[in-house]
This record gives sequence, C-alpha cells and structure tokens, in this order.
Amino acid sequence: MNMKMIKMAVFGLVLLTASVWAADSGVAERIKPVGDICMAGDDCAATVKPVVAEGTARSGEDIYKKCVACHATGAAGAPKLGDVAAWAPRIGKGMDVLYASAIKGFNGMPAKGLCFDCSDDELKATVDYMVEKSK
Ligand code: HEC
Repeated sequence: MNMKMIKMAVFGLVLLTASVWAADSGVAERIKPVGDICMAGDDCAATVKPVVAEGTARSGEDIYKKCVACHATGAAGAPKLGDVAAWAPRIGKGMDVLYASAIKGFNGMPAKGLCFDCSDDELKATVDYMVEKSK
C-alpha cells in the first residue's frame, strides 16, 4: 500500500464510523422510553403528545414556563408576571381581548407566545394563570 491508499482507507474508516455513530444514536433516541428523554416541564410536548390522552390539556401554570423568556424578565416590554400595575390596564381590556392577543399576537407579543404546539384552550388557561397571579 502506498501513502495515498492508506489515507483513503483512513478517510473511509472515519466516514464509516461517523455514519454508524449517527445511525446508532438516532436509533437509541427513538427506542428510549419517553420518560427518559422527556421530563415533566421540559419543552417536549411533541414527544409526549401521543401519550397524552385526547383532550387532556396542559395547565396554564405548565404552559407559562414557555412564556417566561419574556414575561418573567419584561423583555421587549412584556408585562411581568405579578406586576399588578403593568397588568391592570390589560385586564381592563377584558379577557377575550387578552386571549386574542395570546393566540394571534399583539405588537411585541408573538402569536401563541411562540408555543406553537399549544392549543387555543391551553393558551387561554395560561392567560388565566398569568392574570390570576398579577391582580
Ligand atoms: C418573545 C417574547 C414573548 C413571549 C415568548 C411571550 N410573550 Fe406575551 N407579550 C410579549 C410582549 C412584548 C407583550 C406586550 C405587547 C404590547 O403590549 O405591546 C406581551 C403581552 C402579552 C399579553 C397581554 C396582551 C394584551 O392584549 O395586552 C398576554 C395575555 C400575553 N403576552 C400572553 C403570553 C403567553 C400566554 C405566552 C406564552 C405562551 C407569552 N405571552 C409569551 C412578549 C412575549
């Protein structure tokens, strides 16, 4: 064997190892029991969905964990959870308006609060939770 052949053999081996590893880890991920890779409160609704019975909505408190990036910090002018003064004028608009803002978006508030796998009812429950904690 000359150097060129050795180099090609090594390269081939690396490629083979990489593809075996990739395929392998993909399989491992798929056959893992759901509970192993998806802990409660994790952002893993897609994984959990088939397990959750039809019509079993997550609680507003659970979903709120997806809203904290903005609503715990006040990022982009988001009203903070528990900030009574910030929420009072919003609550004054009526719950239906707030539900619509959560579902369709409102200025800096993105549609669905970026929780794209949230149902409208789950979003409404989350708004209820946020309002309840901010009165
Ligand atoms: C990327 C940042 C961001 C995320 C994530 C986010 N929000 Fe907001 N939200 C905002 C901002 C900014 C506002 C204020 C918009 C304004 O008044 O101009 C807001 C306002 C709101 C309001 C008040 C709307 C109104 O009509 O006054 C509700 C209700 C709300 N968000 C719910 C949620 C829920 C529920 C989630 C999670 C599912 C969420 N938000 C996630 C940024 C965010």
